[in-house]
Amino acid sequence: MLDFLKSTVGRKYIMGISGLVWMGFVLTHMAGNMLILVSPDLYNAYGHAIVSNKLVLYGAESVLVLALIVHVTTAISLTIENRKAKGTRYAVNPNGDKGPTLASQTMGLQGSLVLAFIITHLATFKYGKEYETVVNGVPMRDLHRLVVELFQQPGYVLWYVVALIVLMFHLSHGAHSIFQSFGFLERKMVKGVRKFAWAYAIIVAAGFLSQPLYVYLLKGN
Ligand code: HEM
Repeated sequence: MLDFLKSTVGRKYIMGISGLVWMGFVLTHMAGNMLILVSPDLYNAYGHAIVSNKLVLYGAESVLVLALIVHVTTAISLTIENRKAKGTRYAVNPNGDKGPTLASQTMGLQGSLVLAFIITHLATFKYGKEYETVVNGVPMRDLHRLVVELFQQPGYVLWYVVALIVLMFHLSHGAHSIFQSFGFLERKMVKGVRKFAWAYAIIVAAGFLSQPLYVYLLKGN
């Protein structure tokens, strides 16, 4: 078992499974965040409900941190090995898929940018300013105020737009690769899977993008 996990195929499985964990998280995080378009109280109450359930919160955070560490370290080890084996790559994949695209060749660069985004994102939101509010008599953190304050700054909005576009490419290629690594990808399915991967990535990125743009354009100064 350990030998399999250390093999190239085994490590691609690990990349896929840890990637799937984050794919599930970003989709739910994006969907929950859409409450910002509905009402400040609902947005704050949603955030409060999540942080109040310590078991779910710490459980989910542990899984996310573990998946991220595993994803990044496995990516680094596969990249180093790939570099060593340069020259033995296929120009066309054996399953008939086209050769490497710019998106697939820059996965490491995209991943590094997404990682930098996650770190700065946590610093500004999760560990950022603590405003207080009261919703239906319950005191809680005013996350809505913090989000609106930050997304009124053009530099901050621009950084989100760039990071979310990079995330879209990373997710679309990642979602497609999972099928390939797990061996689900027969030749006739390639087009459908590529469409599915792009649809998923566009929904996540467009949903997230609508939030800073809504605040900046409609709730601005
Ligand atoms: C417009 C886009 C986004 C907005 C407005 C947003 C907003 C927030 C806010 C307000 C929090 C703090 C929640 C709390 O402490 O209660 C948070 C946490 C977090 N966000 Fe985002 N987010 C966005 C995009 C993303 C993206 C693209 C990722 C990942 C690639 C991400 C990953 C996280 C993570 C990991 C946490 C910490 C969750 C936890 O441990 O409790 N976010 N986000």
